[in-house]
Amino acid sequence: MYIIAPSILSADFARLGEEVRAVIASGADWIHFDVMDNHYVPNLTIGPLVCAAIRPHTQATIDVHLMVKPVDRIVPDFAKAGANLISFHPEASEHIDRTLALIRECGCQAGLVFNPATPLAWMDHVLDKLDLVLLMSVNPGFGGQKFIAQALDKLRAARARLDAYERESGRRIRLEIDGGVKVDNIAEIARAGADTFVAGSAVFGAGRDADPHRYDTVVAALRTELRSA
Ligand code: DX5
Ligand code: ZN
Repeated sequence: MYIIAPSILSADFARLGEEVRAVIASGADWIHFDVMDNHYVPNLTIGPLVCAAIRPHTQATIDVHLMVKPVDRIVPDFAKAGANLISFHPEASEHIDRTLALIRECGCQAGLVFNPATPLAWMDHVLDKLDLVLLMSVNPGFGGQKFIAQALDKLRAARARLDAYERESGRRIRLEIDGGVKVDNIAEIARAGADTFVAGSAVFGAGRDADPHRYDTVVAALRTELRSA
């Protein structure tokens, strides 16, 4: 039931295909793909061309996290590039319901992302169109930041809403956490209600001494912590 989604933001960009294969071979579940546009967030990363380039390297779910504004123009490009799941920030879309529908029309699962200061109320009228809720535990824009502790209370609140929704609809929406997730806090984060865990620097920082890079030890440590939760 727990999903570990390493963020390739902290991978070696000069050999991304190899990094994707290594991290999935090490037992990770999804590839988290951070898209930043130097407009919605103050950093610039990777786009649909890179998504298409890594697609042949894995069967794993590619979990695209859009930190871009506007959102809609780029959604079909990511669907064509092989994304399985596309999430966006509600502040970056003029019409959230329409963007969610567009993502599904393109054949992908849809997610809504909440910054640390974004209220959970944004999800209230679109639950039927959501496959995933992503809570940011850092302000978006950079890997390697410190986990914001208030995210734990927000996770508990989101968990309660999503459980209530599951009871009435029979449909389960995943609850993902992104930012500052490490071996030493993942169990506490799971107990607060997350079922899907992005980890960038914690995973890709760990395999750097080996060549080719290997991530078995850190992924196993994250799993062990999750079992204890
Ligand atoms: C931040 C990104 C995160 C980031 C996580 O804007 O959305 O996915 O890569 O990196 P760590 O795990 O290092 O905080
Ligand atoms: Zn992310």
